[in-house]
Amino acid sequence: MITTIAEPTDEQLQYGGRLIREGQLVAFPTETVYGLGANALDGRAVEQIFKAKGRPGDNPLIVHISELSEIAPLVTDVPEMARILMDAYWPGPMTLIFPKSDAVPDEVSAGLDTVGIRMPSHPVARALITSSQRPIAAPSANRSGRPSPTTAQHVFEDMNGRIPLILDGGACSVGVESTVIDARGDVPVILRPGGITPEMVKIVAGAVRLDEHIMAPVAEGERVRSPGMKYRHYAPKAKTVIFEGSPARVIKSICDRYDAELTSGGFPAILGFDNHDYGDRHVLSLGIPAHPDEAASRLFAALRELDTEGRTLALCEAVSLEGIGLAVMNRMGRAAAFDIIHL
Ligand code: TXA
Ligand code: MG
Repeated sequence: MITTIAEPTDEQLQYGGRLIREGQLVAFPTETVYGLGANALDGRAVEQIFKAKGRPGDNPLIVHISELSEIAPLVTDVPEMARILMDAYWPGPMTLIFPKSDAVPDEVSAGLDTVGIRMPSHPVARALITSSQRPIAAPSANRSGRPSPTTAQHVFEDMNGRIPLILDGGACSVGVESTVIDARGDVPVILRPGGITPEMVKIVAGAVRLDEHIMAPVAEGERVRSPGMKYRHYAPKAKTVIFEGSPARVIKSICDRYDAELTSGGFPAILGFDNHDYGDRHVLSLGIPAHPDEAASRLFAALRELDTEGRTLALCEAVSLEGIGLAVMNRMGRAAAFDIIHL
């Protein structure tokens, strides 16, 4: 199959919509990461997503909508807390868990009795959903285990020859995936941190809880509320280690470890802040500490670059857990299999 990267002109959006209706896959930009979309109401189309990604069948997909009226056929209830969060943060980087209706095929929900739904804010994502006249099931458009794609080129690296069309919307502004929230009870539970921060949820909901697996690895065979948490995501081939503590100690430890790796014939890189001095060592920038949103928008591209350059060791500076920093540390933590050195 030939994979085309196209500017999202009206003509290409019509074509993309037709492909979705015909049961094919289309990759498209969202404000978080690129998605790999299929008609969410067509189980056979959705199966193609799992094939193209090499994704485990027990990991459910998020359904993307462009109008609130598209929810009713997909769910059996809209819980009150979900309504409050939707009003505040849709369209945007937030996925809510609903009890699913029979219209949602098992391929989407991976056998769960719930469905995750999100209304993205990216105009190209919205236009594709509108043009297809279908809700679109879409995971991140990477091969399973690779960092999520934040540019059309990243999608091409992973999906060339596997899908007909990639709509190119430039680089994604948020850079980490949506916040997945179970708002079926009185207190919303964040299952996966993302673009909508715990602080933002608390402002409108009055309270918020974090799932205990957000900053910890999942043990073999352990039951989790969001199946995606089980998998070692975002993993670069380089051994990845995170350093947390006072900047002076972090910089010193990273430099020592970097130099030792060079001496033993390795090819290290640093994921670090611009205002920290690493001499002439190779640094992939996370921006500056006061702006965790910069780290969010750069992290996945940096993890991909490690692989492209064949780095053997990635030494990462921890980001503050405040705001979107929690999402950054959750993704970085998983890339490092939670190998965090506290200094
Ligand atoms: O920002 C995003 O959410 C991107 C863009 C494309 O929208 N999509 C995305 O999808 O990150 P994916 O498949 O890579 O991650 C979906 C996450 C997984 O961790 C999955 O386990 C969880 O959402 N999830 C989906 N449906 C669920 C459900 N019914 N209950 C609990 N967790 C669910
Ligand atoms: Mg993903």
